[in-house]
Amino acid sequence: MGDRITVPRLRQMKAKGDKIVCLTAYDAGFGALADAAGIDLILVGDSLGNVLLGYSTTIPVTMEQMLHHTAATRAGVSRALLVADLPFGSYQVSVPQGVESAVALMKAGADAVKLEGDYPDTVRAITAAGIPVMGHLGFTPQSVHAFGGHRVQGKGDQAVVILEQARRLQAAGAFGMVLELMPSELAKQITSELEIVTIGIGGGVDCDGQVQVLHDVLGLGSTRFKHAKRYDEIGERVKDALGTYAKEVRGGEFPGPENSF
Ligand code: KIV
Repeated sequence: MGDRITVPRLRQMKAKGDKIVCLTAYDAGFGALADAAGIDLILVGDSLGNVLLGYSTTIPVTMEQMLHHTAATRAGVSRALLVADLPFGSYQVSVPQGVESAVALMKAGADAVKLEGDYPDTVRAITAAGIPVMGHLGFTPQSVHAFGGHRVQGKGDQAVVILEQARRLQAAGAFGMVLELMPSELAKQITSELEIVTIGIGGGVDCDGQVQVLHDVLGLGSTRFKHAKRYDEIGERVKDALGTYAKEVRGGEFPGPENSF
């Protein structure tokens, strides 16, 4: 697993039909574990607002928080491609604002950045600055209020709107895109038509790869999502371990002679 994942390598994986495995991580410890597990693309997602900071949406997440967690995750990741999210408000104001924010994330240690929605001019300018950029279409969490909640996007007549957005992002130079909460047929059509990589989350099995939020696959949160699969119940195991620790301290079993000087 020593061979570093690069943007050209992701393109080769699509061409060969090798699935691209992506996961979020937000710090050095979990970044290193994901890297050691062979995850290809590690995303410092603005979902850190939900899973680390307890916000109900990603909207309050700041550039300072993204820079902090990108630098921390960089310290643990050496093989995977490290992609950092541009948070809400860091690119929507103007194209130069988007380029400046992307530059800052790269200086913090990212290999590439990701932004949500239909911003081809910003994608073009960030790409022209030498920064690989990913799009994110379908349900885009920073627009949750505009969507009226966590809803599948691209049903019926809306499908062609998302297909057009995907074409625009590819033409603007994006190297890939996340396809979130959309009908599998639409994600399949985008994946087969585009040359760039598609990474699904609630986008069905035909995407070039899949991304999941770390806390969802580990069973660290109580919320269960249809688009996610829990591969463990780490939250329950943490509770059990900490309960045993508390019991042993209260019962005078810890520290024992082996822990004492
Ligand atoms: O912030 C995030 O974790 C994401 C993934 C859901 C794709 O954007």
